[in-house]
Amino acid sequence: MTDEWTRPITVEEMYGDWAPLEFEDAEALTDESLDPRPSISILDDVAATGISAGDLVLDIGGRDGFHALAMAERFGCRVIVIDPSEANIEDGITDAADHEFGHLVDLQLGTIEDIPADDGAFDLIFSRDMIGHVEDIDVALAECRRVLDPDGAMVIHQVVATDLMEPNEARRLYADVAIVPDRMSSSGFEEAADRVGLIIESVDIVGSEYMEALLENRNDARHLLRVARMRRAKDRYLEQMGEIRYRVVYANTLYTIYRLMGKLEERVYTLRPRPA
Ligand SMILES: C[S@@+](CC[C@H](N)C(=O)[O-])C[C@H]1O[C@@H](n2cnc3c(N)ncnc32)[C@H](O)[C@@H]1O
Repeated sequence: MTDEWTRPITVEEMYGDWAPLEFEDAEALTDESLDPRPSISILDDVAATGISAGDLVLDIGGRDGFHALAMAERFGCRVIVIDPSEANIEDGITDAADHEFGHLVDLQLGTIEDIPADDGAFDLIFSRDMIGHVEDIDVALAECRRVLDPDGAMVIHQVVATDLMEPNEARRLYADVAIVPDRMSSSGFEEAADRVGLIIESVDIVGSEYMEALLENRNDARHLLRVARMRRAKDRYLEQMGEIRYRVVYANTLYTIYRLMGKLEERVYTLRPRPA
């Protein structure tokens, strides 16, 4: 922890008398929840843009339409999901067919670099946890700006690296979850937004909250155990899963733990086009 405190703790300070707050009492203080926001509270950031029923929303990298259906249900908006994975689109079409608000959601193949829509088509662009996969952020954000109504807004959720992330662990982690290392820089994203004419209206620093809520709700320590087991019995799991699944499952688990540890940080940016 010398990143924050430069003077080392002495042995006497560590093992000496802790009264009146014993070590266990200090630990116990942290057993109580800090009431973290659950990940679905990203829709509060969407609400803050002033979205209303009948608006047309684009969810980029929206996987199986989970957030699209949640937005349709909460706001009565229409949502088009684009995602490059055929399996995601097929799952999403099935889920939408069974959902009360599924008639408001349309799922199509597409990428952020080549959005299948006319100029100015959308009132809101939403994207959660996908910017990390983008090779050229200028191309991607310029394409978003093209399809965004000049009075519209963008709500972009991102996972970014903090000063606690060490270069070697970053290199290993990003390679195994298909992340482009440059995309993990918050300043890189902010500069690109400025270059393509997007103004950052607000930044909601979520930090570890969504991940805290996830673990508190399930009351489990599976992520930590999974890392320990996957390291100790690596050969067994490699045989059962194959290399790609092993690497992705392991790195994806670290991706959660690193968000809890503050090596990675979740943020929600709200952006608007700079007026001409
Ligand atoms: C981590 S998942 C997030 C899915 C969803 N937004 C969520 O929060 O649950 C990343 C998604 O981005 C999609 N994706 C990857 N590259 C993309 C690109 N260039 N354009 C659009 N989507 C992309 C993937 O197929 C995947 O569904």
